[in-house]
Amino acid sequence: MPTIAVLTSGGDAPGMNAAVRAVAKLGAGRGVQVFGVEGGYDGLINGSFRPLTKAASGGWLPEREVDRMLGRGGTILGSSRSARFREPEGRAAAAKNLSGMDGLIAIGGNGTLRGAHALAVETGVRVIGIPASIDNDIGCTSLSIGVDTALNTIVEACDKISDTARAHKRAFVVEVMGRESGYLAMASAVAAGADAVLFREQGRTEDEVVSAVEKVVRESFERDRGKRRTLVIKAEGVPVPCTRLVREVDERLVDLEGVECRAIVLGHLVRGGSPSYLDRMIAGRLGLMAVEAILHGAGDEMVAWRPVFPDAIETSDANVGRFPLERVIEESQALLEGTSPVTRRRMALIEAVEGVLAL
Ligand code: F6P
Repeated sequence: MPTIAVLTSGGDAPGMNAAVRAVAKLGAGRGVQVFGVEGGYDGLINGSFRPLTKAASGGWLPEREVDRMLGRGGTILGSSRSARFREPEGRAAAAKNLSGMDGLIAIGGNGTLRGAHALAVETGVRVIGIPASIDNDIGCTSLSIGVDTALNTIVEACDKISDTARAHKRAFVVEVMGRESGYLAMASAVAAGADAVLFREQGRTEDEVVSAVEKVVRESFERDRGKRRTLVIKAEGVPVPCTRLVREVDERLVDLEGVECRAIVLGHLVRGGSPSYLDRMIAGRLGLMAVEAILHGAGDEMVAWRPVFPDAIETSDANVGRFPLERVIEESQALLEGTSPVTRRRMALIEAVEGVLAL
């Protein structure tokens, strides 16, 4: 009887629970005993397992808590950014706790996937990664779990901010998460109807960032278009703190009477919340293909949603492919360095609309 362990690691993302649930339910359905690891890689080193399936006549059933997981944000198993797991000793201890099991499914972002690859290479543990991060900075997959819900949260927040902005004829700079990746800012700017978007990949200096915001506010309010709001979305990776940016813009706009700028940092708000339809669906289908991969003897790979490269290992789901973790790590690096065709495509899309966002 096969046995699989599943964990969530790194920054939590809406939909992680849906992925854990999929692994537990599909595992049980395939006669697999499934253990959840509490507290990410730290929990794996400590041997903190809890059963997610229970024996039943003729096979396995998911534990009751599994069903309650689907609509919950965060991760019920808990997570960690484990410094110990970055060390070979920590990984060796983790592998020891997995002995006798058929594989590990690791749900998380780039740090988690790098750790999974090192564990697989050093100890031979069969690991399958499931991409989960609101930053969408993971190579080979078009979306990671959590992005869609985070985008909906940002758009909803910007709609609320726009209401009060219009009431007072104000400009707002809204900062969103994403670490080094500008994906959340780029994608939400279009959906929230922003007048401008700022992200690290633009490679602007502080002065250029301030000038860009000054320009869009002036253009919005100077030329009497009857506009009562200017919305600028800023990725957290842009190296100017939101409050300082707004202060510097305000100083340059003293001649623009009656116009005020405000800064808002959405922060961890975009990491919480009940997962959207799309995140639940992606989590379910990646969970299924991860279980299948382990049962087919695969390891040191990641399941990708709508693979961005044509050479993915095929699965029985036309929307899911697999890539070696080593490849994923390389492509994630290229995404952030801007050498990836994916980053170039994303930036070209924004450049195509940049001139009209504020119209
Ligand atoms: O990687 C996800 C993320 O939310 C990033 O967008 C953000 O920069 C970081 O994690 C915040 O980390 P923490 O929750 O440890 O402050």
